[in-house]
Amino acid sequence: MHEPKNILITGAAGFIASHVTTKLINKYPSYKIVALDKLDYCSTFRNLKSCSSSPNFKFIKGDIASADIVNHVLIEEKIDTIMHFAAQTHVDNSFGNSMEFTYNNIYGTHVLLEACRVIDCVKRFIHVSTDEVYGETDLEDDIGNHEASQLLPTNPYSATKAGAEMLVMAYHRSYGLPVITTRGNNVYGPNQYPEKLVPKFILLAMKGEKLPIHGDGSNVRSYLHCGDVAEAFDVILHRGEIGQIYNIGTKKERSVLDVAEDICKLFKLNPKDVIEFVQDRPFNDKRYFLDDQKLKQLGWEERIPWEEGLKRTIEWYQKNPDWWGDVSPALNPHPHFSAINLSDEAQWSFQYGYSRLARSYTEVGRSNSGFKFLIYGRTGWIGGLLGKLCDEERIDWEYGRGRLQDRKSLEEDIRRVKPTHVLSAAGVTGRPNVDWCESHKVETIRTNVVGTLTLADVCKEQNLYMMNFATGCIFEYDKEHPLGSGIGFKEEDKPNFIGSFYSKTKAMVISINFFLILFVLYCSITILSLI
Ligand SMILES: NC(=O)c1ccc[n+]([C@@H]2O[C@H](COP(=O)([O-])OP(=O)(O)OC[C@H]3O[C@@H](n4cnc5c(N)ncnc54)[C@H](O)[C@@H]3O)[C@@H](O)[C@H]2O)c1
Repeated sequence: MHEPKNILITGAAGFIASHVTTKLINKYPSYKIVALDKLDYCSTFRNLKSCSSSPNFKFIKGDIASADIVNHVLIEEKIDTIMHFAAQTHVDNSFGNSMEFTYNNIYGTHVLLEACRVIDCVKRFIHVSTDEVYGETDLEDDIGNHEASQLLPTNPYSATKAGAEMLVMAYHRSYGLPVITTRGNNVYGPNQYPEKLVPKFILLAMKGEKLPIHGDGSNVRSYLHCGDVAEAFDVILHRGEIGQIYNIGTKKERSVLDVAEDICKLFKLNPKDVIEFVQDRPFNDKRYFLDDQKLKQLGWEERIPWEEGLKRTIEWYQKNPDWWGDVSPALNPHPHFSAINLSDEAQWSFQYGYSRLARSYTEVGRSNSGFKFLIYGRTGWIGGLLGKLCDEERIDWEYGRGRLQDRKSLEEDIRRVKPTHVLSAAGVTGRPNVDWCESHKVETIRTNVVGTLTLADVCKEQNLYMMNFATGCIFEYDKEHPLGSGIGFKEEDKPNFIGSFYSKTKAMVISINFFLILFVLYCSITILSLI
């Protein structure tokens, strides 16, 4: 029997993990629970609000893909147990946006595993996977997938979950990491973001709108109430065996059409009036059927019948209609990108650079503050984001048309735009990555050094404020700032990383004050002529 002391729960502000966190906090006051979540569009701190007054609870907003954050948390919080729920989870989104699924679900899991390997503090790593990794089950089969069945994922979401599982298994075999994997059926209940079927239909029914069914609605799913699932994780946490995989399943299945009809019944609606059939997903698995015996042998069983669970869930959404704010985009039949909660878009786009994809591209912002910003870096994601932020803040702005290294074109921009401030997010970062700069030194130094300093000089001459968006890639860990220590570099610290040509050019600009600009410009141009 495992007795955890300090548990890290990733994705804790999401649906399932928030129920698990709340259960553990209430049931085991001696455990310290550290909840890590990047608070993505589908999660909210409200899901954890009931935990926040507990002395054994700590919330950290952070990304599992950041090795620094993960290392810091594991060391500082003396973590001995990880329950890893964090993931991109919505299959519909994965058809349009699959790279984010690879990044969060595979790379993020890899970062966690690697941190566990290096720090060597974890006694139990529970990796939360899904029934979807098995791929679809034939409708005629009466034997469910057992834990040793082949993995045959069919959509990008399930493929990334299967990929993450492979890494988990490899870290167990190669490094002896004490892992347990779970593969669960569909879960429903309070706190779930309404892009998923059950809460989506409930909210639509509450608004008196149509319930859209993908295809003919014959696809079958097995639904477990989140209370039963939280109980299953309690059992696995304490009694699960290292190296084992556990299905968390139910034999009771319902087609999507059944779910819609059950919801209609509880809302006293006529299904014929309310249900509408819409285009199917690119690929929609018919059924996920699990063999649930192994977990039952550990002592778990499903207690909340579908009818009772659905009734309770409807009551919760009726009591909390605004829990998720404006979710109308998520209620579309095929939400994809539009599922992004627009009020969080700035944060979302800041992390992922989606703003230019998710919105129509605005070149010129119009509003009436006292400022006018001239922005360089139109094609980069920071440049794109700056325009969007100015729109939100109602600041007049325009993109510069000139090239940074061409002084005349910059002067022309300033004459035309008459800015109060100049913001430069322009620079060569390399495509596909900074390695490109090694073989393109001329282009890199021309923009990053000559260009930035030319712009600075023009702004100085015209008495204009200039803000340059530089980079943190000019620092590397050293004795005073060791990896995992949480001690970061300060703004005034001298750049100490010149391991790539890109960082060299960025460090050059940072190190230079305006009195040296002309001299450096002269040197840079001389260097250019020599390379
Ligand atoms: N919901 C289901 O029916 C179901 C069924 C089986 C398995 N699962 C698995 O259970 C887990 C939880 O699912 P859910 O339905 O609660 O999902 P959810 O989408 O409600 O929550 C996922 C949480 O992970 C967080 N997150 C995502 N990427 C992150 C990152 N890089 N760093 C930090 N936090 C990040 C999100 O902010 C969110 O709070 C997932 O791993 C999912 O694959 C879900």
